Amino acid sequence: MTDNFTPDSAALPDGPAPQDGRRSFIKQATGLLGLALAPPLVSQAERLTAMSRKVEGVSEMRLKVNGTLRTIQAEPRVTLLDALRERLDLTGSKKGCDHGQCGACTVLVDGRRVNSCLTLAVMAQGKEITTVEGLAKGEELHPLQAAFIEHDGFQCGYCTPGQLMSGVACLKEGHAKTDADVREWMSGNLCRCGAYPNIVAAIRQVEQSGFKG
Ligand code: FES
Ligand code: FES
Repeated sequence: MTDNFTPDSAALPDGPAPQDGRRSFIKQATGLLGLALAPPLVSQAERLTAMSRKVEGVSEMRLKVNGTLRTIQAEPRVTLLDALRERLDLTGSKKGCDHGQCGACTVLVDGRRVNSCLTLAVMAQGKEITTVEGLAKGEELHPLQAAFIEHDGFQCGYCTPGQLMSGVACLKEGHAKTDADVREWMSGNLCRCGAYPNIVAAIRQVEQSGFKG
């Protein structure tokens, strides 16, 4: 049982009252702890200050978009979607929700689909970014773009860039073998016009043609 035992009462039977002893013990311990920690804390604070200077304000970023290296001036908090639309005039990627819920902003980064509204532009430096503008080869549409036209895979078209980018990735990933597969792996891309059956048909047609992306 340790209910009545304190370090103070054990070490200082005739000294100050236990409460005083506890206070002076805490003071001494805190002082020692402060001495022990002071240099690293100071240098950590200096490091953080130096870092915050670096990440504050506008800085230069290089983004490789659709095979071309582009330079922009932007704050580190700028999303990839805003960098594409507002700094690079690539307005194909759409801002639907800006919260990662609709998929309208989907682009490929190093071949993987990402919600560009949830990705910081600064983190996409040094990577291959592909947007819907990069799908066609000159006048020649990407097979999935052509299939979307053939199958009426859109109505208002707002979700279409995101659907196309997700669809291209879906084909590459091998997730378009069945209608159910497509529905599952395209479930992050919403279409308020309800063009889902036509989108699935377009993706399935491209998959059945043997195109792998
Ligand atoms: S705008 Fe990015 S997920 Fe909706
Ligand atoms: S075509 Fe209108 S939201 Fe999909």
